[in-house]
Amino acid sequence: MKKNTKSNVANRQKVLIFGSRGMLAGDLIVSFKKDGFLVIGVDKDVCDITKEESVRLIINQTKPNLIINTAVLQNLDECDNNPVATMMVNAIGPSFIAKHSGKLGIPFVQLSTIYVFEGNKPSYYTEDDRPNPVNVYGITKLNAEYFTKLYNPKNYIIRTNFLFGKNYNPKITKTGNFVQRILLLARQNSELKVVTDQIISATYTKDLAETILKIVKTDKYGTYHVTNSGHTSLYDFTKKILELAKLKNQVNIKGVKLADFSQTAKRPQYTIARSVKLSSIGIKAPRSWQDALSAYLDEIG
Ligand SMILES: NC(=O)c1ccc[n+]([C@@H]2O[C@H](COP(=O)([O-])OP(=O)(O)OC[C@H]3O[C@@H](n4cnc5c(N)ncnc54)[C@H](OP(=O)(O)O)[C@@H]3O)[C@@H](O)[C@H]2O)c1
Repeated sequence: MKKNTKSNVANRQKVLIFGSRGMLAGDLIVSFKKDGFLVIGVDKDVCDITKEESVRLIINQTKPNLIINTAVLQNLDECDNNPVATMMVNAIGPSFIAKHSGKLGIPFVQLSTIYVFEGNKPSYYTEDDRPNPVNVYGITKLNAEYFTKLYNPKNYIIRTNFLFGKNYNPKITKTGNFVQRILLLARQNSELKVVTDQIISATYTKDLAETILKIVKTDKYGTYHVTNSGHTSLYDFTKKILELAKLKNQVNIKGVKLADFSQTAKRPQYTIARSVKLSSIGIKAPRSWQDALSAYLDEIG
């Protein structure tokens, strides 16, 4: 999607973002506005993506140049307990968006996850690896990918992992932001139990939003892995959070195993991502997770 250089409103590129109250959506809105886009953000009250007519109407009325869907249910245990509701929001909703954007030839960005993989590979998953999800969340997100590709050839599927960003609002988003939860718990407790054998590629929503903006400007459709560079265990991630926030002397971190936690949904153990596709379209992978975490903590003060 080549960006129009004229700045008058009539000629501005328009982007429609579903799930606009969410953590990533907040940074997408800022990045796209800063770049000159006219941003139309719609939350669940304006458009519930599980209602096809509502999705059709908003797309046809606004006629955007680009659509991004960030709407999701992603509490893993609640997803496993509610497969029908999860399938509706995470897969059927995106199928409606893909269908109606596809009919009008509008490019569509569907956010996805490294949780489409099994998580038993202690090295990087690239875009060429074969998905095999192990919980309802992963299954529904993979279905969304299939529907997106089926209905709209102008698709970008962006798989990411373990987001942290300033738009996390505990009152709105139950799923949470690990960094802010750790900061809160560290101020209330003398000891924290954190998993040592779950390995992640943590991602700052600001960096993800900027990278999505770069990708859509290339017109190179397809599936992309976008995370901050490198990987870490939840335990080491927590240590770094506390060190950067100058809280490491106030709280003791006790390492525990993933298997020690009794949880409904299975967690993929290794969700380490790397992109082979980004460099092939001339886009640099986002900075290291350590630099991103430091920038994020500066941002939230
Ligand atoms: N967070 C992560 O760690 C992570 C990791 C990998 C991939 N991702 C993917 O990245 C994307 C964005 O994640 P996020 O963490 O920014 O999401 P989020 O903060 O949980 O926001 C999701 C938004 O979706 C909205 N929503 C739920 N049901 C809806 C419906 N039926 N119709 C319309 N909107 C609905 C919610 O609205 P209400 O607030 O009104 O309920 C919420 O504002 C998702 O596709 C997710 O799968 C996230």
